[in-house]
Amino acid sequence: MKVNGTPYRSLWWDDTKGALQIIDQRWLPHDFRIRQLDTLADYATAIVDMQVRGAPLIGATAAYGMALAMAQDPSDSELDRTWTLLHATRPTAINLRWALDRCRAALEPLAPGARADAALSLAHDIADEDVEINRRIGAHGLTLIREIAARKPAGEPVRLLTHCNAGWIATVDWGTATSPMYQAHDEGIALHVWVDETRPRNQGALTAWELGSHGIAHSYVTDNAGGHLMQQGLVDLVITGTDRTTRQGDVCNKIGTYLKALAARDNNVPFYVALPSPTIDWTVTDGLSGIPIEERPSREVTHIQGTRADGSIDVVRVTPEATPAQNPAFDVTPGRLVTGLITERGICAASLEGLAGMFPDLAS
Ligand code: MRU
Repeated sequence: MKVNGTPYRSLWWDDTKGALQIIDQRWLPHDFRIRQLDTLADYATAIVDMQVRGAPLIGATAAYGMALAMAQDPSDSELDRTWTLLHATRPTAINLRWALDRCRAALEPLAPGARADAALSLAHDIADEDVEINRRIGAHGLTLIREIAARKPAGEPVRLLTHCNAGWIATVDWGTATSPMYQAHDEGIALHVWVDETRPRNQGALTAWELGSHGIAHSYVTDNAGGHLMQQGLVDLVITGTDRTTRQGDVCNKIGTYLKALAARDNNVPFYVALPSPTIDWTVTDGLSGIPIEERPSREVTHIQGTRADGSIDVVRVTPEATPAQNPAFDVTPGRLVTGLITERGICAASLEGLAGMFPDLAS
């Protein structure tokens, strides 16, 4: 997508520098900074510190991390060490393990001398495939938006609500939840997007930055506003992303997603989840017992980052100094609360049958 008129992906390999370039998301929406990752430690820190974030982007970054490691030392032990080091960076988004497993399965059988080139080419493939998956998710999600638009008086916008940032910077491009929005907007359908702020890290501000850059009408709302907006009939459709969806369609996503699904169910608002197939964990059935929920630093809750009037970026404390905080970063929405899963192959039920029917080749 474009930033100030220039097309970007959220990461790209610079052949001249022989290094990965990322958009350092810690500074958005206040400042647009590009950063180069030079060492494996840089890659691990970029994921842990959320310089890169969002399930698909974490996976793609890890694949490039594996490529860097193989260029420096293509031995079996380095392959294992890199898998372990990068896998430990964040526990919930399954795309990380998916990408690392895919790298290991492709590289292990090769002679060490052939691994560096193969790893870089695989990382490029994973990045390119992500873009195409998200484009297709957008095309399928667009059909839902078109149906709603067709039922409305001419010119009245379709009102969507989204949580967190499942946008293009959380993927390599397009985003998952936002891809249908971009495609609907580009087709001329009037939209208005309610953007949940998504405390504690306010990923909603990233979504607002994205939508604003693309000219899509939106309003930033507190996390607690969604239920009220739905009761007032102001939400036609909810679309969120996911960090891991189980084989029976339980959706793990950014903390607060579950409450939106509950409110949507109580108000008969369709609640869809944009789901790329690498985000399905076929090894887990029950999301509540089977998915590790990342506990992030309490400082993310007690402090908040913003821009001062002079343009400088600063962090302030919002709680009494001694107040302890808890910071579970994700929650699980049972499949029964999900109207449907928007995948790259089409829309299916959030159930064992729905996912197995859509992905018979992947379901084991
Ligand atoms: O903690 P984050 O910012 O990495 O969490 C991101 C989300 O929860 C997204 O909704 C999810 O990864 C889907 S991104 C297409």
